[in-house]
Amino acid sequence: MIIDIINKKRLGEELSYKELDFFFNGYLDGKIPDYQMSSLLMAICINGMTDEEIFALTKIFIDSGDVLEFSDIPGIKVDKHSTGGIGDKTTLVIAPIVASLGIPVVKMSGRGLGYTGGTIDKLESIPGYRIDLSDDEIVKQVHDIQLVVTGQTACLVPMDKVIYALRDVTATVSSIPLIASSIMSKKIAAGADKIIIDIKLGKGALLQTREDAEKLSDLMIKIGNFYNREVRTIISDMDVPLGKCIGNSLEVLEAIDVLQGKETSNSFVDLCIDLASEMVSMGKEISKEEACTMVKEALKDGRAYQKFLEMVQYQKGNLSQIKVSDHTFTVKAKTSGVLKKLDALELGKLSLSLGAGKESITDKIDYTVGIRLEKLVGEHVKKGEVLATIYYSKSKPNIEYDKIFGIR
Ligand code: URA
Repeated sequence: MIIDIINKKRLGEELSYKELDFFFNGYLDGKIPDYQMSSLLMAICINGMTDEEIFALTKIFIDSGDVLEFSDIPGIKVDKHSTGGIGDKTTLVIAPIVASLGIPVVKMSGRGLGYTGGTIDKLESIPGYRIDLSDDEIVKQVHDIQLVVTGQTACLVPMDKVIYALRDVTATVSSIPLIASSIMSKKIAAGADKIIIDIKLGKGALLQTREDAEKLSDLMIKIGNFYNREVRTIISDMDVPLGKCIGNSLEVLEAIDVLQGKETSNSFVDLCIDLASEMVSMGKEISKEEACTMVKEALKDGRAYQKFLEMVQYQKGNLSQIKVSDHTFTVKAKTSGVLKKLDALELGKLSLSLGAGKESITDKIDYTVGIRLEKLVGEHVKKGEVLATIYYSKSKPNIEYDKIFGIR
């Protein structure tokens, strides 16, 4: 039976719900070994899945754990997900904006993957901040302050945890059907009524072509329809990092600058406003233009920042203790011209080598290290001007200047 199923997918045939259920739950229960699951995942990666198979797999994922229920909390619950990128701290800005406008937000975020950072790692750079809330604590917090950003509870889609860990080490992460069911199962199980997905496209992202990003977008909207959830998507650039900072504490501080109105115009702020406007438009059932005006007001008058502080306090974080490394050095421009390249993937690798992420499961993250980009793409620079400040703690890293920066 096991081999017949793998063979069927290898030949590009459609698997039934029963076959998928048998295989995936068999793996979760420890009855099917890693090597056979890996083989099926690779066959899926190469031959794809039909819509029917993807709906079935999403259901199997959802049914593997708890499904949260917030129907007694008034208002449309709106959630957001990003497929992952370098310097992506949008959740830290948009979740408080949306909640400050009266829309309940329950966001269960993940850890970094590969070169990309995770929101939960960023929040852990705030000493004391709790990311391990139980289902009951989550429900109480949404009731009390309408905003929670926490890690995924162990009971939420346990299937995704085991399959994701295997995909990560079997070169099957970038399969579009597998990404779609992984993300959508978590969003639906987390109790969202409406969902916005930020699909990252480019060098520092899982997806490298617009065609693939559009395919993923269509698929997630279809899964949403199947489950009666409105899903909107944005495809956003990840050839260059998002914003100015990469690294956990640095990114939290950058998000705070945006919430305090100190940073008002760069591609990161624009994306935050765009995503928050989509969420408010869905949550209040108003046009995106009207929502955008409200979002900008909540940022400007400090309501969003107050909501952020309320959340950090509720989850026991102490912002005054957040630390960045005292050891820094700068990278200077070798020539004058316009900054044309800030390679997201290379900056992600540099950030990882500084210790801002994990290279192996047992590594400990150094929250204090990272990179601050002092110039962004499109800016004029003079020879000798500082392009970036590097915060390191162990040893000074080697900077592969030409791989990261391009000035013409
Ligand atoms: N993010 C997820 O949660 N799952 C994937 O498969 C890819 C990105």
